[in-house]
Amino acid sequence: MMGDISQYFRLDQRVALITGGTSGLGLAIAEVFLQAGATVFITARRADRGQAALERLRPHGPVQFFPADVSQRWDVERLFDWLRGQTHRLDILVNNAGIMQTKDLTEMTEDEWDREWGVHVKGTFLCTQQALRFMLGQTSGVILNISSYLGLRGGSGFTPAYSAAKGAIVTFTKVLASRYGPYGIRANVLCPGFIPTDLNRHIFEEAPDPVAKRREIEERYPLRRLGEPIDVALAALYLCSDAARWVSGAVLVIDGGLSAR
Ligand SMILES: NC(=O)c1ccc[n+]([C@@H]2O[C@H](COP(=O)([O-])OP(=O)(O)OC[C@H]3O[C@@H](n4cnc5c(N)ncnc54)[C@H](OP(=O)(O)O)[C@@H]3O)[C@@H](O)[C@H]2O)c1
Repeated sequence: MMGDISQYFRLDQRVALITGGTSGLGLAIAEVFLQAGATVFITARRADRGQAALERLRPHGPVQFFPADVSQRWDVERLFDWLRGQTHRLDILVNNAGIMQTKDLTEMTEDEWDREWGVHVKGTFLCTQQALRFMLGQTSGVILNISSYLGLRGGSGFTPAYSAAKGAIVTFTKVLASRYGPYGIRANVLCPGFIPTDLNRHIFEEAPDPVAKRREIEERYPLRRLGEPIDVALAALYLCSDAARWVSGAVLVIDGGLSAR
């Protein structure tokens, strides 16, 4: 009855849009989805990074890039207008684009707060709203939102806007799962721990001893290492594939055991 179970993890004939797909976790998710057979569209603001990502991804399958700022409604509309010209369906949306400002709340400006919430919360809202137009018509689809372990905890307390925005994404995902499940649409959220990427490079660069800083962070993790983008990409593949066909509204923490402490 089960047949070949590896088929559950394949994404053949599926079309995926990954925001922030030019770097870090988004780039790894794009590569894994392509290897699983999907057609992939990626978006981010910087076109040069988009071209570099395409060069890396093209050997793995059909992929295209469109430059857009997910925090701007008109830009998201342009992105989806273009997407409708490329594809008649959208099976998977990964809301992954993000930035992280490390700052004490007392020093944070209104603009900084708005920028953080603009990318994470408004960007997730705007892209999801557009993607639902495809998915409701198809009565199928998967939305995967990338939050953070900081969306569940305060962390050091020095990422106030980021942590709060990531928390909002967790609740938003549950709203989606609850509201659109009857239309065949699943929504889940991933909460990764620390994975060295461009997002958090400044944490090491600003440390007096970057090697010691890394060791100090690693020590906090029961598995005694930081994450790698592929760790998140494989979890994303599971949640976006038929292997997770009865999984919706789930909050998957992928943090080397950190939150078990
Ligand atoms: N790395 C970690 O430790 C970690 C842990 C938990 C969660 N996360 C989350 O994982 C996601 C990816 O992070 P990452 O570590 O892979 O960071 P990254 O390497 O800096 O990649 C971020 C991506 O988002 C894009 N982006 C940023 N602002 C955007 C905007 N306004 N519109 C469209 N694209 C935008 C960036 O490209 P442009 O700058 O060219 O736009 C880039 O492609 C983020 O949501 C982050 O919060 C990361």
